[in-house]
Formats: sequence, C-alpha cells, structure tokens
Amino acid sequence: MSKGQTQHVAVLAGDGIGPEVTAEAIKVLRAAKERWRLPLAFDFLPWSADHYLETGETLPEGALERLRDEYAAIFVGAYGDPRVPDNRHAADILLGLRFGLDLYINFRPIKLFDARLCPLRDRGLGDIDMVIFRENTEGAYVGSGGHLKKGTADEVAIQEEIHTRKGVERIIRAAFQWARDHDRRRVTMSDKSNVMRFAHDLWQRCFREVAEEYPDLEAAHMYVDNLTMQMVLDPGQLDVIVTNNMFGDIVTDLGAALQGGLGLAASANLHPGQTSLFESVHGSWPQMAGQGIANPMASVLSAALLLDNLGYGEAAKAIEATVVAALQADQTTPDLGGNLSTERVGDLLAAGLGNIDVGNIDVGDIEVERQPAGTAAPSKVAITQRGGGV
Ligand code: IPM
Ligand code: MN
Repeated sequence: MSKGQTQHVAVLAGDGIGPEVTAEAIKVLRAAKERWRLPLAFDFLPWSADHYLETGETLPEGALERLRDEYAAIFVGAYGDPRVPDNRHAADILLGLRFGLDLYINFRPIKLFDARLCPLRDRGLGDIDMVIFRENTEGAYVGSGGHLKKGTADEVAIQEEIHTRKGVERIIRAAFQWARDHDRRRVTMSDKSNVMRFAHDLWQRCFREVAEEYPDLEAAHMYVDNLTMQMVLDPGQLDVIVTNNMFGDIVTDLGAALQGGLGLAASANLHPGQTSLFESVHGSWPQMAGQGIANPMASVLSAALLLDNLGYGEAAKAIEATVVAALQADQTTPDLGGNLSTERVGDLLAAGLGNIDVGNIDVGDIEVERQPAGTAAPSKVAITQRGGGV
C-alpha cells in the first residue's frame, strides 16, 4: 500500500457483547490514529445474528473477495446468539472468514500482565509469557463427516480430522520463524500422536523436518494431556507452542485463565502478507449483553495486534502498556475485581493512550498511581514511567 493511502479496517461487531467491546476497541484505535497520525478508516459491516434474522444472509456473496481486496484488516467483536440455535451465522461468518481467507495462523499470546490476576499460587509476571500458534484451517474444524440413521438406536456419527502436509508444515514453520524473530528460545509442538497414529504422525514428521531449519531454537514435544498439566504446574517452561486447531482452541482457553481470564485474551488470525482478522478469544456472552459489564480489554489488545500487523508497532506497544497500567491501577470491569463499566474502561484506555510517554516503552517499566478502591474514576489513566515524563 502506497504511503498516504487510507487503510480501511472492516469492523464486524457481531453479537451479544460484541458491539459493546468493539465500540471501546475502536475508540482506542481512533485515539491511536490521532496520536500517531495513522492512515486508518473504520467501516462497520452489519454481518451478525441480527442481520441474519432480518435478511437470511450470513456472509454475503462476494464478501471474501471484497474483504481481501479492499481492506487492510478485519476486526471482529464476538459471535453467537441464542436466537440462532445452531449458530449457523457464526460458523458461516467466523469460520467462513478463517477458512475462506486462508488465515492459517491463529496467534494467541498468553501473558500475565499483573501477578494478582494469576489463579496459580506464587507466580510472577515472567512465569507466564507464552504464545500459542494454533493451526486455523484444518483438523477437526473442516466439517468433514456425517450421520447415518440419525435419531435411531443404530445411529452412527463420524467426523474426521483432516491434516495436510502443506497445512501442518506452514503453521510449524510460522511458529519457529516467529520464535526466531522474537528472540524466543523454545518451540513446543503438542499433539496426541500416541493415539492419533496417522494424523498426528504427520505432525511429528513435519515438526522434526522444520526444526532442522532452526538449529538455533530448541524443539520440544508434549502430548496435549501433558501440556495442559504443565501449563498449570510449570508454565515458565513454555515459550512458543504450536498445535492443531482443536487442541489450540482448548489450550488457549486454559492459557487465558492463567493470565486473568477471557477478558484479557487477544488473538490474531493471520495469513502473512494478506488481509488478516483480529478478535478477542472470548465469546458473545449473550446473557450479559447490554449491561455494560463486559471487559473490553481483550478486544483492545486484539486491536493492538491489528496495529502491529499493519506495521504500527509503537502504537501497539503503547496500547498494551496502557492496558497494563489500567490493570495495575484496578481500573477494570467487575470480572477483574474493578467497578468500572465497559465504556469507562474504554474511555480510560483511550485517554491513557493520549498521555503515555512512548519515548521508550517497556511494559515492565511502568508505574501507576493507584486509585483507592471505590473512589470515582479519574478522568484519565495516570501513568508515569520510571525516569520519564507523564
Ligand atoms: C475460538 C472459538 C471458536 C473456535 C468458536 C466460536 C467456533 O471458541 O475462537 O476459540 O472454536 O475456534
Ligand atoms: Mn475457543
């Protein structure tokens, strides 16, 4: 994209709490846009349960081409609505975009931003800092299978996992390459090859082959049952993890719990060099929609991943730093023990972004003026950096 040309971001706010958290993420993106003069424009697209119930349309004809050709990135709120019992629209839209745009990397960082949020005993910030590379276009998610004699006593249900050499190799290579580019030391591949002898044997072979291209990195393996245990018992040993679609889905929820819950878990669905999609890991929490209690931080952190993907690393880091500062100051929604509304947290993050000293951001180096619990929220996030200005 040539300099000066506007980059359009497609915003799919989705269902339930999706629109509420998306509004705050876009608010923060707009603050970043202003501060760093980013050439971004946000286009809201209506595809959601409401839209489906009104029109019968999920992902309209030509949507994939339009998104790929006209948009620099896609930002998604959350999908899932009890009025659509099979959530067909959610599958069509979310999985449709992951598969249709071939977004083969589901990048899910898990980082403890505030030690008080970790449900494990005696764990500090450095103990939980892992990145999960979840394969995003294959495995159990391809929808290959069917029923025989459905609804009878003789019913047969079959659903296959599909793994291709190309698909497995590229996600494993993406994990190693990212690890090298980010000075990580170890890549752990997780499968269940002791039982899934055919499908996961392909993962074993691809992993060994790709690991040879990265002699500077340690290549480790854990069966997925062991991985879940190790994530709880000794998370510090885990660095970059690469795994299949279904296992990645499961272990990233566990990872989210380790960092303080789904309210903080961000993700990116990537195809390097192509239009990619950014969304929080959490769902649409329809029971709580409209109450202003959803935590927008996961969505805001996903927006930071979007900026990073578009090459605005400084703005991305500043957003993360602003979230950390808000957490440390207890400026949070009730899920994290605070008493602020979704909107209020978004306001504070956007305001904090305007104030943060971005001269040399190091998330570990930020001090926050604590607000006594229960006091009225201040008009801005008060952030000072050690040795730096306000
Ligand atoms: C996720 C979600 C989705 C998934 C659902 C909504 C289809 O749980 O992004 O983790 O299973 O991938
Ligand atoms: Mn999930």
